[in-house]
Amino acid sequence: MLLMLHRAMVPGLRQASRLRSTSRLCSRACSTDDSFQPRHPISDDNSGDRGWRVMGTLLGLSAVLAYHERQCRAAQESPHLYTREEVSSHCSPETGIWVTLGHEVFDVTEFVDIHPGGPSKLMLAAGGPLEPFWSLYAIHNQSHVREILAQYKIGELNPKDKAPPTLGTCDPYANDPPRHPALKINSQRPFNAEPPLELLTENYITPNPLFFTRNHLPVPNLDPDTYRLQIVGPPGGQSLSLSLDDLYQFPKHEVTVTLQCAGNRRAEMTKVKEVKGLEWRTGAISTARWAGARLCDVLVQAGHHLSETEVHVCFEGLDSDPTGTAYGASIPLARALDPEAEVILAYEMNGQPLPRDHGFPVRVVVPGVVGARHVKWLGKVSVEPEESESHWQRRDYKGFSPSVDWDTVDFDSAPSIQELPIQSAITEPQEGETVESGEVTVRGYAWSGGGRAVVRVDVSLDGGLTWQVAELEGEEQRPRKAWAWRLWQLQATVPAGQKELNIICKAVDDNYNVQPDTVAPIWNLRGVLNNAWHRIHVHVTP
Ligand code: MTE
Repeated sequence: MLLMLHRAMVPGLRQASRLRSTSRLCSRACSTDDSFQPRHPISDDNSGDRGWRVMGTLLGLSAVLAYHERQCRAAQESPHLYTREEVSSHCSPETGIWVTLGHEVFDVTEFVDIHPGGPSKLMLAAGGPLEPFWSLYAIHNQSHVREILAQYKIGELNPKDKAPPTLGTCDPYANDPPRHPALKINSQRPFNAEPPLELLTENYITPNPLFFTRNHLPVPNLDPDTYRLQIVGPPGGQSLSLSLDDLYQFPKHEVTVTLQCAGNRRAEMTKVKEVKGLEWRTGAISTARWAGARLCDVLVQAGHHLSETEVHVCFEGLDSDPTGTAYGASIPLARALDPEAEVILAYEMNGQPLPRDHGFPVRVVVPGVVGARHVKWLGKVSVEPEESESHWQRRDYKGFSPSVDWDTVDFDSAPSIQELPIQSAITEPQEGETVESGEVTVRGYAWSGGGRAVVRVDVSLDGGLTWQVAELEGEEQRPRKAWAWRLWQLQATVPAGQKELNIICKAVDDNYNVQPDTVAPIWNLRGVLNNAWHRIHVHVTP
């Protein structure tokens, strides 16, 4: 679709931009003013062009144009140089929108509105490099796209410009991996970020660089050659110390699983009453195809079997705080030993080794269960009579009544979150956006925990007075093994004369679980488990 649009637009675009670029390149590159800044199209008074026209009339057109051309050539040979900081300050229609590709700098302000993928997608790269986006959306890596871009070139990056300073080696996060610039960062240290809504449901499988990241600690830098996973054996049994090669010897199991953080949509809860925690919007959820060894196969090899007394499988990560305390979590042994539950020790994510942020070299993936139990950088697995002692199992990721506050909370009184409730959210349009009158396309995701399949998504354009059923996309889900989300969309008529829409979505799973209509009755002090109807308000163009 994108390609077709692109192809349809390209001949016209090329012509238009060639014509435009001659005057653009010349009027920009030929500026003799060293403090040259490209002009914003709206505030552009064309005084440069007017100047040339006036001079042409006075001196004779051909002499002026010849001089002009010579100047342009000279400017192309010695292009204007910009620092990265200058580029990054051009990231809005007000300042102008600049991007870089390699060492070249482009002013794409006027291209944004005609970008075939939509203005909002190009805006994600505003003020920075295009490469991270082009590597995800390879459709751009074509000569005609480069040709279009070339028309918007305004200069090059100054080779003397230094990369942004990094903190010293005493910074425990100094060794964290590089991240995709499109991610919406909720906290830098530890790194927590979600994909932008424009990209979240663009693909059923979330590309690895855009997968939401939830880290509590610095990312460990583990050597795959020396990596060992400790599997503590049962009393009197034998413990295993597995290298990556040992893990590869177990039958490889692949499964598509959606991970959702319990804090997804916390930002909406905060609006009801303040809660402690990162302000996740609707993007603390992503889907990947994971591959690895089944946990049940590994546990059985170590001699474990269902037990009356040892009923929890505890996981310990290799990330730790300054006191040496590691991240940890646990799941019931019955789930871990059930081959149908498809719990895996994953070493691949979408056909690649796990990225560092997502647990390289091995993490546990627990389909249908809250993200907090999918322990990354897995170091140790043991079977215990009690749940993991970890703070994140015992003192976090639990739900409470709205009446419980930090003075009255008793963490021991509530079960740790395992399977998550039915959830859905709108990703398009976005809150506050203006949509065309006539027809509106509403898109989003829906998912339920515990392998429960999404059977329906209802969408309302009028704040819940009337409802239409959205179309569920993708494959049918396996009963009791619906581990991944359904993307959905609805094409709906905007009632004539409507100036605004209050769009809502709500999903139903195959146990007929539904979402609560408002946030207030499910508010809790940690801001977890927000699965209220998702509501957005948009304007309609007259
Ligand atoms: N595992 C370790 N070792 N350390 C962590 O901080 N965060 C957990 C879980 N596993 C975490 C971890 C939480 S709260 C979530 S929601 C998921 O990882 C997020 O996984 P992701 O970053 O791959 O999306």
